[in-house]
Amino acid sequence: MSQITVTGGKPLIGRVDLKGAKNLVTKAMVAALLGETPSVLKDVPFISDVDIVSRLLQLHGVAISHSEEGVMSLDPSNVASARMVDIDAHAGSSRIPILFCGPLLHRLGEAFIPGLGGCHIGDRPIDYHFEVLRNFGAVIEELENGTRLSAPRGLKGAKISLPYPSVGATEQVLLTATRAEGLTELSGAAIEPEIMDLIAILQKMGAIISVDTDRVIRIEGVKELKGYTHRALFDRNEAASWACAALATKGDIFVGGARQQEMTTFLNVFRKVGGAFEIEDEGIRFYHPGGDLKPVVLETDVHPGFMTDWQQPLVVALTQAKGLSIIHETVYENRFGFTDALVQMGAQIQIYRECLGGTACRFGQRNFNHSAVISGPTELHAADIRVPDLRGGFSHMVAALAAKGTSNVTNVQLISRGYEHFLQKLTDLGADFSYSE
Ligand code: EPZ
Repeated sequence: MSQITVTGGKPLIGRVDLKGAKNLVTKAMVAALLGETPSVLKDVPFISDVDIVSRLLQLHGVAISHSEEGVMSLDPSNVASARMVDIDAHAGSSRIPILFCGPLLHRLGEAFIPGLGGCHIGDRPIDYHFEVLRNFGAVIEELENGTRLSAPRGLKGAKISLPYPSVGATEQVLLTATRAEGLTELSGAAIEPEIMDLIAILQKMGAIISVDTDRVIRIEGVKELKGYTHRALFDRNEAASWACAALATKGDIFVGGARQQEMTTFLNVFRKVGGAFEIEDEGIRFYHPGGDLKPVVLETDVHPGFMTDWQQPLVVALTQAKGLSIIHETVYENRFGFTDALVQMGAQIQIYRECLGGTACRFGQRNFNHSAVISGPTELHAADIRVPDLRGGFSHMVAALAAKGTSNVTNVQLISRGYEHFLQKLTDLGADFSYSE
């Protein structure tokens, strides 16, 4: 298990550069399976989620190369079924394999998906995915070690309505409908920028997709798709993470590649809390302008709301704000587990079952601890902590960097699932740390 020993209390100052969004790139790689010719994806980060998806694609015959500059070519000319035992070796490593279903059914008429992994931030069921696939005509057989799918009568367009605008289920529909026979109408779709970028990629491949008002997406199935060339959308989750790191450590970080348009909701909150930013063509500078940080009341939501992934790093900065902040998490029912370590470091955070500070959400009556009240400012002190999940882990690192004294943070390899060259970036920002495997 890898460990970082960090001496905090020093502002993070300098520049980091972003590559493509983890939550787009991994899906774009799966989309390449749908093409008859090779695809080229630019700005692909070196993160472990990309490695896992690469290995699964390679098992299915996709030839992949990934240059130092982040240019990935994916050649699906020789797509073939993979051995169940080889796929199963990836069980529990990622959530992306569920998105292989549609493309593999189109290419091979069958699919086998290993048990899923991903961050433990709630139950994370896949019922919407299965319902969507059944609507297209897939037959699903749940096995002890994974799921087998077939489509005896082919995949046909369908009218689908999602009970909640799930990002993954919307991607499932897109990746399945583009080559299904006939028209698909999806209502209740997620419309995150990463989904819009996936739609742009599919359009380049030859798909016909229209995004209508009120979360309705219509897809006219086509018989064949070709490869694409595309530069991935920047990682707005990583941008927000470094912005919060600048705020919590009283630092100043220029995030190269960050763009205003996909971050307006975050920027509003950042400003309200007392952070400052300057938008440039090349990126965004985030800094602590001095003075007290201010508390905030907000709820996380689907796009264009405040992203759930931004909540965790923001909470660390809010421990330094003067007054009571309230965060109501409405996307995942169990995303405040990471606050235990912050409390251990001296933060005052209380977690509640009730929907605090905003409108009632679907978790309200269901005994989930999904609202947090943060009382600040509190001085953070060093502690020994274990990274629980990707964003929670980043937040723990930021807390350790802001805290007085020397902290030991273990299980840090989880952070490399979503943050490229994380240690190098910490060095570039002047952090005082050492790393051991
Ligand atoms: C994606 O997860 C992201 N992951 C998450 O980022 C992100 O937090 C989330 O979207 C919301 O923006 C990837 O893109 C790989 P959902 P996804 O389906 O697609 C419920 C990170 O740190 N639901 O939109 O899995 C679900 O339990 C990760 O980068 C069902 O009930 O999220 C949740 O409460 C963490 N049944 C809600 O919907 C289903 O079949 C939203 O989940 C599917 C989802």
